[in-house]
Amino acid sequence: MKALVVYDSEFGNTEQIANTIGSTLGSTDEIEVLRVGEVKMEGLTGLELLIVGSPTQRFRPTEATSDFLKHIHANWLKGINVAAFDTRLTIKEIEGTRILPFFVRIFGYAAQPIASKLKKKGGELIASPEGFYVQGMKGPLVEGELERAADWARQIIAAK
Ligand SMILES: Cc1cc2nc3c(=O)[nH]c(=O)nc-3n(C[C@H](O)[C@H](O)[C@H](O)COP(=O)(O)O)c2cc1C
Repeated sequence: MKALVVYDSEFGNTEQIANTIGSTLGSTDEIEVLRVGEVKMEGLTGLELLIVGSPTQRFRPTEATSDFLKHIHANWLKGINVAAFDTRLTIKEIEGTRILPFFVRIFGYAAQPIASKLKKKGGELIASPEGFYVQGMKGPLVEGELERAADWARQIIAAK
């Protein structure tokens, strides 16, 4: 299976999730995990699976992730299975602030808009967008999140 996991990461948490997803998918050289700035558009041809993940920043994917998605040509992902994930603050952390719950209810997190863009470019969504929790702005990941990421990757393999 030719698969690519693309991620952005400011503090390293999303990178850890991306690496776990990549290694769960397999360890052949057909499976690549690349930071968003390293991806060449030609690298998307011939893929069977494309997974894109970003930290949620200001309720959205990072600018680099949005740029990458914007530059994918129309229909370029036709016939490719796609999935999206993000990292985000815990619900407890969000509810501990006065204004964040209101904005999160309206604007949500990064995974959903990433999934919508991937679908818009022709991709076939193979799993529900998923969010993985970090403790505080910089992390670390909440305990158990790497295992949850591996489970999510196994669900994707099973759905293929
Ligand atoms: C500028 C900025 C804005 C953020 N906005 C949100 C947000 O809207 N919702 C949320 O759940 N987390 C937010 N966070 C927390 C990030 O989701 C967290 O830093 C990220 O998951 C860490 O991933 P990384 O280590 O890969 O950068 C924000 C963090 C930063 C630095």
